[in-house]
Amino acid sequence: MKIAIPKERRPHERRVAATPDTVKRLVQLGVDVSVETGAGENAAILDQAYTEAGATVHATRAETFAGADIILKVQRPRTSTDGGADGLADYPDGVILVALHNPFGDPIGVEHYAAKNIISFAMEFLPRISRAQSMDVLSSQANLAGYKAVVDGAAQYGRAIPMMMTAAGRINPAKVFVMGAGVAGLQAIATARRIGAVVSATDVRMAAKEEVESLGASFVMVEPDGDDSGQTEGGYAKEMSDDYKRRQAELVAEHIANQDIVITTALIPGRLAPVLVNDDMIASMRAGSVIVDLAVEQGGNATQSVGGEVVTTENGVIIMGHYNLPSRLASDASALYARNLFNFVELMIDKETHQLAIDWEDEIIAGSCLTRDGNIVHPALKPQDETPAAPAPAAEAAPAEEVPIRSEAAEAGAAAPETPEPDPARPTEEGA
Ligand code: NAI
Repeated sequence: MKIAIPKERRPHERRVAATPDTVKRLVQLGVDVSVETGAGENAAILDQAYTEAGATVHATRAETFAGADIILKVQRPRTSTDGGADGLADYPDGVILVALHNPFGDPIGVEHYAAKNIISFAMEFLPRISRAQSMDVLSSQANLAGYKAVVDGAAQYGRAIPMMMTAAGRINPAKVFVMGAGVAGLQAIATARRIGAVVSATDVRMAAKEEVESLGASFVMVEPDGDDSGQTEGGYAKEMSDDYKRRQAELVAEHIANQDIVITTALIPGRLAPVLVNDDMIASMRAGSVIVDLAVEQGGNATQSVGGEVVTTENGVIIMGHYNLPSRLASDASALYARNLFNFVELMIDKETHQLAIDWEDEIIAGSCLTRDGNIVHPALKPQDETPAAPAPAAEAAPAEEVPIRSEAAEAGAAAPETPEPDPARPTEEGA
């Protein structure tokens, strides 16, 4: 059996889908591993390290892919309707393709996989069950993104973060406000606390309160509508009522004027990110304050964030809209991503025969498979009149009446956009 790892070709992508560590593990499973030359160079992994781990390094992607049973990628390939250059031409017939596919953002790409008879698995659709935790790329990458957001924000902030008592006077600690306390938000809270900030956080999910407080941050809370938990059965945030949103905006407006660094991470699967920091709130912040908008690829949580750019507003607030934060820590992000993928692929390999042995009934396999035998098989992507055949995805499906995110700056999860949009017209939640 052969597994191939190409070089990533999308802009802003520095990660790679296998490391020498995972290559060694694959070789131990009896797999031949081929790697395209330069695949790891942006993550500080040289060809020689792959060779020493037991892989064969090839000069072209076509050679790397020849005879492959499985292709491991970070980003989805560029199909003919999507820039074209990457193409699917050299993907072997019937090959298994494991990657972040952004299926809601790029449903056309999924159609191309079916047409090309590719068996595709979307890592962002992995069910978030305990057995799949070691494969959960959304968590591993969001963790690093949350950390990096604080480090980036602190570096941009022109003052110190911790309290300092000096002979020349006292420096007060920076106040960091984290909006959205999921995986990235919780890591941002922990990181900001570690460097001495006074941290507060908010979320619509009531369950987040305890987690936030256990990390030593205060929870800025809007009273729920009745006994609404703010989350779906899958544990994801719900779209809140207009009244809730109004009350949330009032509370945030009051709180944010005194904050030094604001990290926004709020997402609702399958929808544009909720706008939480509006123009008035930005205008109320002090000059030199920093907003790091992690949701910029899904439309942004702050009205004035610009994808891929660091901008300064008229009143001197710095808004950071970097794309693909995990990729800015490419070595660690690749190491974790590659381990997630190894754990996933290991499920498909028979340890005795060293051949593919896929249990299509396994909820991890069924929950993440997009296309198979020339058809789109995932229930969240099938035409509405077809009967669902697999469990709901981790990143829950957008209800039928919602328009999937289509903008290039709207890659799901840890993905990065194809082309940065210099000054995108800001989409509103209502437009989602
Ligand atoms: P996410 O990336 O989809 O969203 C980030 C955060 O934004 C979430 O906490 C969400 O509640 C919050 N948010 C959305 N709209 C908001 C608004 N209007 N105002 C304030 N906050 C808002 O979330 P992520 O990080 O993927 O986590 C989602 C859930 O999945 C969490 O409950 C998490 O604990 C759970 N989870 C479970 C895992 C498992 O293996 N069982 C693994 C990882 C996460």
